[in-house]
Amino acid sequence: MYNDNPTINNLKDKSVDESRQGEALDLKTPNTEGGKKFYIESYGCAMNFSDSEIVASILSKEGYSSCTTFTDADLILINTCSIREKAEKNVRQRLRVFDKTKDKKPGVLVGVLGCMAERLKTKFLEEEKLVDMVVGPDAYRDLPKLIAEADDGGKGVNVFLSREETYADISPVRLGSNGVTAFISITRGCDNMCSFCVVPFTRGRERSREPFSIVAEAQDLVNRGYREVTLLGQNVDSYKWKNPETEEMVTFARLLEMVAQVDPRMRVRFSTSHPKDLNNEVLYTITKYHNICNYIHLPVQSGNSRILELMNRTYDREWYKERIDKIYEVIPDCTISSDIITGFCTETDEDHKDTLSLIEYSNFILSYMFKYSERPGTIAHRKYEDDVPEEVKKKRLTEIVDLQNALSLKSNLKDVGETFEVLIEGDSKKSADEFRGRNQYNKMLVFPKNEGLKPGDYVFVKVRDVNSATLLGDIVKHHETFNA
Ligand code: 5AD
Ligand code: SF4
Repeated sequence: MYNDNPTINNLKDKSVDESRQGEALDLKTPNTEGGKKFYIESYGCAMNFSDSEIVASILSKEGYSSCTTFTDADLILINTCSIREKAEKNVRQRLRVFDKTKDKKPGVLVGVLGCMAERLKTKFLEEEKLVDMVVGPDAYRDLPKLIAEADDGGKGVNVFLSREETYADISPVRLGSNGVTAFISITRGCDNMCSFCVVPFTRGRERSREPFSIVAEAQDLVNRGYREVTLLGQNVDSYKWKNPETEEMVTFARLLEMVAQVDPRMRVRFSTSHPKDLNNEVLYTITKYHNICNYIHLPVQSGNSRILELMNRTYDREWYKERIDKIYEVIPDCTISSDIITGFCTETDEDHKDTLSLIEYSNFILSYMFKYSERPGTIAHRKYEDDVPEEVKKKRLTEIVDLQNALSLKSNLKDVGETFEVLIEGDSKKSADEFRGRNQYNKMLVFPKNEGLKPGDYVFVKVRDVNSATLLGDIVKHHETFNA
């Protein structure tokens, strides 16, 4: 679910939202003529993109309007990712480019947000002299004050993590939006402490957002024509919120149901699930509602039980297989995707083969596959040696990618001749004569346009041809409402 490549509020990561690829930021805030302008660039996971929308909301209340070219901006913000070394390197490179703008326009402020800000704190200011603000993921409400401090020639810093902050009351301003699909953040932080992962250190303790504000946000999106929401969290299945008045506990399954009931025309997705927390109640809730997509992103990380233990994933190979079996038993047509790390500390060729065989067993339609990248301060960094040579990591990664591509193609080939209900998200990348949209299984379809149809409409598309990434087809029927 992470993307190490720079994008301007659009996601190259297609399982998150391919429709936002290649689109410039388009922020629907009043254009305050002569007022201050900000530019924001986001890296990494969907949560970061979602946070940038909270930041945009906070700034628009301060009279800022957005711009899509950083050279036009008075305030340049970069929302950063620390998940792998490469992600951090990308940010450093980008800062070199912003430095040049500052040389030409001395009043411009540059702020670093997100996980790198949290990880490096004031060290960032020592290392990057032209950075004016360092703001951690729980401190965005403080931005107006920090901007004022930086404007006065100081440095604005707030990297305090919170046990409560969920930004529940802030209405995100949708950035680079296609007007059809949106993220809703439901939890923040992570308590899992997977040994390879920097997230618990950069995003703090897990907390769940109050459910009524989530439902209200979903309702508002429907009212504005949106037709798909993705409930976001590092570990959505551990969502829990206790009503202080009734003592009633809202679990993730219950929340899913509450959001599904907002409007049958609105699809519901969620990400990311942890295998230890994805329970049967969630699976049964998925089957109960037509508008909850039969698709689960369930990162396995490794197929070997010894490595899983070193990773502190708290499940083993057999547990994961049981979860996969249960998903296919309860939701036979469900598609599953995964994240995989190759070359974790002490991983042998035999361990790697276990990963290959579990990928095959699980029949993932898609995986995000990474070479292990040691992150400072993590348990693995402190306890284990990063001892798998780079060439071995590379070779294993290639094997995993090849296997996954073959599985994706096989799965897509089975779809030839099938007809799917597709939500139109926008024009296809290649041609303005074609639409693109996903089916509930998170597969992208491309098909010639029919007159009168627009993004946000549902259509039935019959698949004529496929490759490992996309299904090509033709509209056979369209309808106004979801259940028509
Ligand atoms: N090295 C490589 N990949 C990592 N991920 C998390 N930490 C690391 C790391 N140190 C991957 C995991 C996770 C995804 C978001 O990023 O697969 O699920
Ligand atoms: Fe990182 Fe594990 Fe939490 Fe995911 S569940 S954010 S991999 S610690």
